[in-house]
Amino acid sequence: MNILLLGSGGREHALAWKLGGSPLVDRLYCAPGNAGIARDAELASLDLADHGAVIAFCKERAIDFVVVGPEGPLAAGIVDDLEAAGVGAFGPSKLAARLEGSKGFAKDLCRANAIPTASYERFASADAAKAYARARGAPIVVKADGLAAGKGVVVAMTLAEAEGAIDMMFAGGLGEAGSEVIVEDYLRGEEASLFALCDGESALFLGTAQDHKRVFDGDEGPNTGGMGAYSPAPMMSAETTRRAMEEIVRPTLRAMQAMGAPFKGVLYAGLMITEEGPKLIEYNVRFGDPECQVLMLRLKSDILPALLAARDGMLKTFDLRWSEQAALTVVMAAKGYPGSYAKGSVIEGLDEAASLEGVEIFHAGTRVEGGRIVANGGRVLNVCALGESVAQAQARAYAAVDRIRWPDGFCRRDIGFRAIERERQGAG
Ligand code: AMP
Ligand code: GLY
Repeated sequence: MNILLLGSGGREHALAWKLGGSPLVDRLYCAPGNAGIARDAELASLDLADHGAVIAFCKERAIDFVVVGPEGPLAAGIVDDLEAAGVGAFGPSKLAARLEGSKGFAKDLCRANAIPTASYERFASADAAKAYARARGAPIVVKADGLAAGKGVVVAMTLAEAEGAIDMMFAGGLGEAGSEVIVEDYLRGEEASLFALCDGESALFLGTAQDHKRVFDGDEGPNTGGMGAYSPAPMMSAETTRRAMEEIVRPTLRAMQAMGAPFKGVLYAGLMITEEGPKLIEYNVRFGDPECQVLMLRLKSDILPALLAARDGMLKTFDLRWSEQAALTVVMAAKGYPGSYAKGSVIEGLDEAASLEGVEIFHAGTRVEGGRIVANGGRVLNVCALGESVAQAQARAYAAVDRIRWPDGFCRRDIGFRAIERERQGAG
């Protein structure tokens, strides 16, 4: 088969690496890709917003199946357009992608189907939103309805902060995404992510992960797209996972099907594990980045048949094999990220780092310049490793980080600390 993968980050490099190992693949293309992906796939420079150009490329290269990485093209309906043009594609339709594209839609679906989530209301004006926030009291959470590149959520510890966030969103601080706002109760607990492959009707559990969103050690500093992750999440017991699948994921699939928008693709449930059990924080309609990287390291089976089965509605009897090992990834970012940062600095030592036992390096934001790898984004590399424990995976990943010569980059030195603490307690 000829496959086209869409996207350019570490998530897509991990998918390209996994797809590249499939005996079913004749040719693998990626658009637009990055310098690391170029080792596993042929890069195509396509504008993903131009669905016509993507379809034309598929016809020209006899693409049998398109795998969509990021949420933007999904929310813009690229799967609908590809399928209408006769090209099979992995990912949700535009209607189904509203689970991520509209937080209000996802919350209303939870309410209508008794799916556990924080109590909330939706607002179209600042005054009503503020009155509700005052009535509920702080801490309280303010969310923009639409896609806001990770900036749409303000966890307000005080009412003043909540009111500031409401004003910012209604003043257009997040563009169209903030024209509607959700105010919801603050949930207490530990966060974990759960991934399920869905075919519209059935859900196949893929795994759990936890990430570190803050830029500095100790989970301090501003939010980022994710500075590291590990899988599985040790705090997700078999029972908590079962409850999350039965109380959250499966009712969501039934509800989407009932409204004529069956969900196909990866459903990524961001969960708060509270004293009452798992509650949904938010849905994403794609693999997480960098969570995908650690899932792909643990996946033993060929991923392509699973993605095809999801698209064809054939997951019911499907199974995947997973490594018992833990996987961990450290994100190396350009100095200054998530604020402003420079592009173009040279990165060396990657081959040596990648040759260490259990280590795999995925590129997130790189390009080739004069035969050398240079930084081309905020998050630049994902240094990943498998290990018998999270502690071993972490030690291997940092040993690899230390072989990489990139003076203009930085990373957190404590990825996985909570899981490692738990492992120590379990052993002691
Ligand atoms: P997001 O940017 O949508 O991934 O969400 C950002 C973060 O906000 C989540 O990962 C949580 O840490 C936090 N968050 C969102 N909603 C709530 C909530 N209701 N209670 C507590 N924390 C929340
Ligand atoms: N790592 C968070 C995300 O992919 O949304």
